[in-house]
Amino acid sequence: MAALVELRGVVKHFPVARSLGEIVRGKRPAVRALDGVSFDVGSGDAVAIVGESGCGKTTLGRLMLKLAEPTGGSIAFDGVALGGLSGDGLRDFRRQAQLVFQNPFDALNPRFTIYRAVAEPLVNARIDKAEHKDRIEKAFRRVHLADFDRYFDKYPHQLSGGQLQRVVLARALVLAPRFLVADEPVSMLDVSVRAGILTLMREIREAMGLTAVYISHDLALVRYLCDRTLVMYLGRIVEDGPTEAIVRRPRHPYTRALVAAVPVPDADQSRIALPIKGNIPDSSEPPSGCHFRDRCPLAFARCAEEAPALREAAGGHRVACHLELA
Ligand SMILES: Nc1ncnc2c1ncn2[C@@H]1O[C@H](COP(=O)(O)OP(=O)(O)O)[C@@H](O)[C@H]1O
Ligand code: SF4
Ligand SMILES: [Mg+2]
Repeated sequence: MAALVELRGVVKHFPVARSLGEIVRGKRPAVRALDGVSFDVGSGDAVAIVGESGCGKTTLGRLMLKLAEPTGGSIAFDGVALGGLSGDGLRDFRRQAQLVFQNPFDALNPRFTIYRAVAEPLVNARIDKAEHKDRIEKAFRRVHLADFDRYFDKYPHQLSGGQLQRVVLARALVLAPRFLVADEPVSMLDVSVRAGILTLMREIREAMGLTAVYISHDLALVRYLCDRTLVMYLGRIVEDGPTEAIVRRPRHPYTRALVAAVPVPDADQSRIALPIKGNIPDSSEPPSGCHFRDRCPLAFARCAEEAPALREAAGGHRVACHLELA
């Protein structure tokens, strides 16, 4: 299917405070949150972005929604470059692309009633006030809060975590968007309500034909939601492929370690066990060449000299590694 979102060579640097020595030497240290990320999200697809904390997932999600600007590269939505959007074009994009926040407790203004919180995107998009109630009720039905009158006058602190996450979802859906980015959508919720929210998200996506990007550190979770998974490591994509294939037969050494850390019942464990040492390094000082080389048990000389490109590998994956990984 045609791509709805296209990223090409996306780079994002964040400046960090300089020491006196660095100022004298004219050095400008930066956190390299994203280091040349390219991929397409097909219209109607559900794509997962997974990787350890700090690898750049949230930054990538924010750039795709134009909540921040890239340092380099380009992002297009429905064929239009986000970089050039302003005025009506930007407002139109904001209607079509929505974020589901990680923490429902932070996502809603504690001083707004639930009705006002869900109406806010309609106000920002300049939707006629006469349409608000209808649209809000429809969004509440979508998230299975059909007894909406019970919630409208309440404040966030009067709701449970599961109810709040449904309200946050309703808020994201009230403009009938085409594209949703969900950043760790259930990580702050009690385990007992997670499954219900995930089932609901899948049902809504299918019913509305939404294109979605789910960001998570949890491979088991994305397996349920997404057909395709991108694995990130220190600002780069290291593997991209069908979720089932990635989970059952990961190819990149980092993905193999990730899968080994999350036991997957039907994965072929004899192939994937690959322990890695240490922690993810600081992204202001990534290793030269392959970012994973300090922790990779298979690293060899070339890995320090040259960054591996993401290239086609067996099983319909794309893998960024100098080795031929069967
Ligand atoms: N606004 C910011 N200012 C400075 N550094 C940032 C900012 N946002 C993110 N970073 C840094 O960029 C890197 C990637 O962060 P993030 O995208 O939040 O990763 P993830 O969501 O995978 O945990 C981290 O090193 C983080 O500290
Ligand atoms: S390129 Fe080298 S260091 Fe990087 S994952 Fe492959 S073998 Fe390991
Ligand atoms: Mg994050």
